[in-house]
Amino acid sequence: MRHAIATQDADVRFLLEHQHPGGAYVASPDFSQYPYAWVRDGAFVAHALDAVGERASAERFHAWTAEAVLALEVDVRAQLAARAAGRPVDHARMLPARFRLDGTVEAGDWPDFQVDGYGQWLWSLGTHAAGPLPAGRMRDAAALVATYLAAFWGEPCYDAWEEGRTQQHTSTLASAAAGLRAAVRLLGAEHAAAAETAWAGVRARGVVDGVFVKAFGRRDVDASLVWLATPFALVRDDDPVFRRTLVRIEDELLVDGGLRRYRADTFYGGGAWTLLTAGLAWHHACAGRADRAQSLLAWVDAQRRSDGGLPEQVPVATSDPWFLDWWTRRWGPSAARLLWSHAMVVLARSALG
Ligand code: BGC
Repeated sequence: MRHAIATQDADVRFLLEHQHPGGAYVASPDFSQYPYAWVRDGAFVAHALDAVGERASAERFHAWTAEAVLALEVDVRAQLAARAAGRPVDHARMLPARFRLDGTVEAGDWPDFQVDGYGQWLWSLGTHAAGPLPAGRMRDAAALVATYLAAFWGEPCYDAWEEGRTQQHTSTLASAAAGLRAAVRLLGAEHAAAAETAWAGVRARGVVDGVFVKAFGRRDVDASLVWLATPFALVRDDDPVFRRTLVRIEDELLVDGGLRRYRADTFYGGGAWTLLTAGLAWHHACAGRADRAQSLLAWVDAQRRSDGGLPEQVPVATSDPWFLDWWTRRWGPSAARLLWSHAMVVLARSALG
């Protein structure tokens, strides 16, 4: 019955229709820069499809990711050996943020070293799998990724926005901690200590004046910090540090009803992101604040294109018109239908019941 309901939902249908036969989810079918599968986006899309009973699709995504990762095992082991021997690691040979839809990697200068996606993948797989993984390719891939996260969770790298290469980003470390906790359920206790050390690091260095901050050494907040509570459950909604963080996120980053990434954002003129606004709605829904969730989702729905598509970003009052113009001339219109945005709406709605 759940399946029948899910397939009537246009957002769910859209996600299912844009899964490559091999299992990858394309970031967006429209935008010139997005014909790839990001591990981060896919982890959230698979979780959304699990939430509405589309488990077979999520399973295909996880199997696809497992194969894509295992194909890079030699590189990963070389970096793990370098770290263990105290030699420098090569960021260009770490696991990439995105793959081609066939699971291969495109050589180039993309800011590919982003640890967070792999934490999110293990977290998503951990919620998908009923219990410990049986012996096989999925378990091998999960074990490799867990070992990778345990070694590199604290390594400065690009964040979820593919920015800030030299920084340690709070939501990246939190993603790694969530992934490592999932690894304990999937694989056993081997990486339990690394999970708790990563999380303790966030609590020690990612908190300034009682608020979770965007990155170690900074004072500003980032909308991705909402993920610490929903979905990663590293903190509860009533955790005092999280509550103060949420207040700051809403005070500083909600503009005209939509959520921006962070205050100094200039990408696409620093617009509001539908996936973040829906993610905030998801959190409020999980915390029992249905009215708040509904009003955020109403803003998201108001951004839909005539075909129902949800854009990645929309300009808001604080957007920089010069940057927006430059960006649009360079890249064309922003992604008009972003799978990750649709996934966050599906998750918020399913939490509302
Ligand atoms: C965003 C990433 C996202 C990717 C694909 C980038 O512009 O910064 O968060 O994973 O697009 O959607």
